[in-house]
Amino acid sequence: DAMEHGISVTGAGDSLDKRMAEGEDERTLTTRQGHPVKYNQNIRTVGNRGPATLENYHFIEKISHFDRERVPERVVHARGAGAHGFFETYGKVGDEPISKYTRAKVFQDAGKRTPVFVRFSTVTHGIHSPETLRDPRGFAVKFYTEDGNWDLVGNNLKIFFIRDAMKFPDLIHAFKPDPVTNIQDSERIFDFISNTPEAMHMITFLFSPWGIPANYRQMQGSGVNTYKWVNKDGEAVLVKYHWEPKQGIKNLTQKEAEEVQAKNFNHATQDLYEAIERGDYPEWELYVQIMSDGEHPELDFDPLDDTKIWPRDQFPWLPVGRMVLNKNPENYFAEVEQAAFGTGVLVDGLDFSDDKMLQGRTFSYSDTQRYRVGANYLQLPINAPKKHVATNQRDGQMTYYVDLAPGQNPHVNYEPSSLNGLKEARPSGKEYTPHVEGKLVRESIDRTSNFKQAGETYRAFSGFERDDLILNLVNSLKTCRPRIQEKMIEMFTKCDEDYGRRVAEGLKQHHEKDESSHGPIGATGTGEAVKQAENKG
Ligand code: HEM
Repeated sequence: DAMEHGISVTGAGDSLDKRMAEGEDERTLTTRQGHPVKYNQNIRTVGNRGPATLENYHFIEKISHFDRERVPERVVHARGAGAHGFFETYGKVGDEPISKYTRAKVFQDAGKRTPVFVRFSTVTHGIHSPETLRDPRGFAVKFYTEDGNWDLVGNNLKIFFIRDAMKFPDLIHAFKPDPVTNIQDSERIFDFISNTPEAMHMITFLFSPWGIPANYRQMQGSGVNTYKWVNKDGEAVLVKYHWEPKQGIKNLTQKEAEEVQAKNFNHATQDLYEAIERGDYPEWELYVQIMSDGEHPELDFDPLDDTKIWPRDQFPWLPVGRMVLNKNPENYFAEVEQAAFGTGVLVDGLDFSDDKMLQGRTFSYSDTQRYRVGANYLQLPINAPKKHVATNQRDGQMTYYVDLAPGQNPHVNYEPSSLNGLKEARPSGKEYTPHVEGKLVRESIDRTSNFKQAGETYRAFSGFERDDLILNLVNSLKTCRPRIQEKMIEMFTKCDEDYGRRVAEGLKQHHEKDESSHGPIGATGTGEAVKQAENKG
């Protein structure tokens, strides 16, 4: 509890008895000022037909608090569901002690459990949008470790659309609804994608059944970006993280998803909640892939490129622990909506790689959370570490407590000091100090290899997955202008000839049949956006 370590600035409430007026008991409705509410059915008016008067304190408190119930939804990943549980480390990686690679305490001592909170999500649409939509799924885990919090903010798919953080707002704008019509438009999406060849691998997954996981329990998770592990000697390796569901993996074809959506657009939240309520706790195993630190010129991709999978035969998956989700939130808003995850939230023994996407992400998360939740978002119980916190940070909107350490001189909110203030921690191992040198440039990486893995993935799909992929692409591309279709076919062909040929044939057949209007991926819309664009030439 955050209060344990701090002094409440709200004062009386915590220390005084819970006084009650005569005739009141603990369930008597009160205002936030503690006034018993005697009239909760009618506002105060001149005569029973009105008009109303403005001095109704209780009414104004009630309605104005209601008016402020929402905070801004997440700019991406607005729709989500969460659960509590624990992570249990195996203490080793493969046959080796894990301490050889990382000194992070969360991974030491086989069998040790660390509490976690997980939030699953869809990406593109708003907070109450259907959970059946074609979209990556978020898989964000907050580990409340003895060294403070560690967030592993991942997705279900193992790769991403882009490899440079500069492009993220454009990518999201293309996928979000049209700014004029407020309708998702596949032409805007493929206009952007046809100019973004590094997205081909992700698009191949996204338009296949892998783009609609059946629910949150039967999907994988991945850290996507490359991180580092650091051992006690200050030596680092590159790592990728993967969550594998014990429940198995299940995806939906477009048709199956439409059948679910016709009856229930909260099915994934419901599935997770009900499974936990009935004691059927979902479980994932955590695997890592490890690569020695360096550029690896022998590979045909860059180890820091998040549009690439590290081939499993070269970089085996090594199990390092398991995670069980066994408790539902008690309040959705307090826990799930106000939860704040970020890629910058690492503990000793875990580090960033030079992946420039990761660095862009790391700025973005806490920046948006200071705006979305507020400057003191880390004081909220869901975000606060479950360990001692002692900072010299003070004040700001909605300050809930001052995190004074026991015995700390309350006058000293600065460091260094000789008057009983806070002091720096001791280093816990040899500092990892990579040498960085180079020209400051604005350039893309050398080994782009945009199409090879996309082709491999296409060929590795089973027949029904390929059929559904082609169908979904054709349905979404059929409303796009020919120049966008042609560019896309050209890129599919670079991935795999059969892939390009099948999309081209599908579009040709379609063209011979009818002219459709624009709309979201996998459906038809109003066509307004296109008419507008056409009018403007
Ligand atoms: C949420 C930015 C790429 C996974 C968010 C949020 C922002 C953001 C601003 C909202 C956070 C909040 O309001 O609390 C970015 C940027 C990216 C990027 C700038 C690229 C430069 C990625 C990638 C992944 C990912 C590659 C997958 C590994 C997530 C997840 C959430 C999220 C899971 C939801 C977290 C939650 O449940 O609260 N992202 N993102 N993002 N992002 Fe990213």
